Amino acid sequence: MKVTFKKDYLKDFVADSEVELLKPAAGLARDTLLARTGVGNEMEDWLTLPTDHDQGEFTRILKAAGKIKSDSKVLVVIGIGGSYLGARAVIEFLKSEFHNEKAAKAGLPEVYFVGTSASGRYIDDVINLIGDRDFSINIISKSGTTTEPAIAFRVFKSLIEKKYGKDEASKRIFATTDANKGALLDVAKENGYERFIVPDGIGGRYSVLSAVGLLPIAVAGIDIKQLLAGAKAAQDDFAKDEDILAKPSILYAIYRNILYRKGFDVETIVGYEPQFRYLFEWWKQLMAESEGKDNKGIYPTSAIFSTDLHSIGQYIQDGKKILFETILDITKPISDRVVPAADDDTDHLDYLLNRPIKEVNEAALTATAQAHTSAGVPNILLQLDDLDEFNLGNLIYFFEAAVSVSGYLNAINPFDQPGVEIYKTNMFRILGKPGYTK
Ligand code: PA5
Repeated sequence: MKVTFKKDYLKDFVADSEVELLKPAAGLARDTLLARTGVGNEMEDWLTLPTDHDQGEFTRILKAAGKIKSDSKVLVVIGIGGSYLGARAVIEFLKSEFHNEKAAKAGLPEVYFVGTSASGRYIDDVINLIGDRDFSINIISKSGTTTEPAIAFRVFKSLIEKKYGKDEASKRIFATTDANKGALLDVAKENGYERFIVPDGIGGRYSVLSAVGLLPIAVAGIDIKQLLAGAKAAQDDFAKDEDILAKPSILYAIYRNILYRKGFDVETIVGYEPQFRYLFEWWKQLMAESEGKDNKGIYPTSAIFSTDLHSIGQYIQDGKKILFETILDITKPISDRVVPAADDDTDHLDYLLNRPIKEVNEAALTATAQAHTSAGVPNILLQLDDLDEFNLGNLIYFFEAAVSVSGYLNAINPFDQPGVEIYKTNMFRILGKPGYTK
């Protein structure tokens, strides 16, 4: 039911004494977070989000999701970075990369994500996919001014108003934005859209368990109460008074910091299920924006094995020893498919006859971990016992807590993202936005 941290593949790389030496610093980092006295503390409301969220808003999210499910075949989610990655990660992790095909069969709305690039072609494709079907929009932007989603919203707002008329369209547009400021807030107020709040004290990459993630996730038919329950269990564990080395998030923070200090500058998160892809995209944002600053930080990348064993697997095995891997594994089989019988054994696979394909996947994991560690690539192993809402909620909080402790251990503010803002401002200047021309 919870994340387990396994050090089976780490013994050649990190000594227990090193962990003991970083333990006091990690304990201080955690205490500082819990006391909200550290740098960036104004952005730490994610710490208690699983228990302290607005109940009234939560009920409205469920109601809005119910409405969208009943009157729409498609939900267009418009947002970028932290304003879309969490929702997409959860939907694809739990429903697979074929979630839209499955939703269509199950009578649930398909969910498409737009505004993550300034690609007119991508927008056209989504418009064509919607066709003449009923749809709704969830526009998500904390600042309400980010260019790519703002343009996409202009396009889809015009489309939905043309299809339904302004009044009906305004009942099909849901705006998730800052409570008090931003252009999107003004548009939402002016048109009477139902509004949800991106909480002030929570940055985009820590916002998946707020309305930012929860509305699209609920529309996809996922149990958001269980998601929050799993996160709450991780919140309780993180705050619990016990040996901090009993906490998986602290262990993860300590081990990755020790590896970083030994020259392993890159962390590749690895999974053996294709549906982990977007969770890893979310993880990359969380890690990169939290830690990559002041000319330091671990560079986060991801891989799906066995697929990528046949591409970057070569580099990991034999290339420069700059990276370590963090494997995410689900212990319970998520499919009971077995290797089937054939007319004859010409393909020499009968030795696997009737054995679960999961067993083959596990063999790939063990074989790869052995191969990579023997070549000098440390492997952290994280396990969940099942692929469900509770476990995923637990994992989300686990990563948020771990990167916060890790950031403090590396003496940076894990809650700002000044680098991202620079490109946004440059873009305003290049495009000639009033007020940004100098
Ligand atoms: O983590 C972050 O804060 C960023 O990635 C933002 O989520 C992203 O830039 C989108 O910003 P906004 O929601 O203001 O449009």
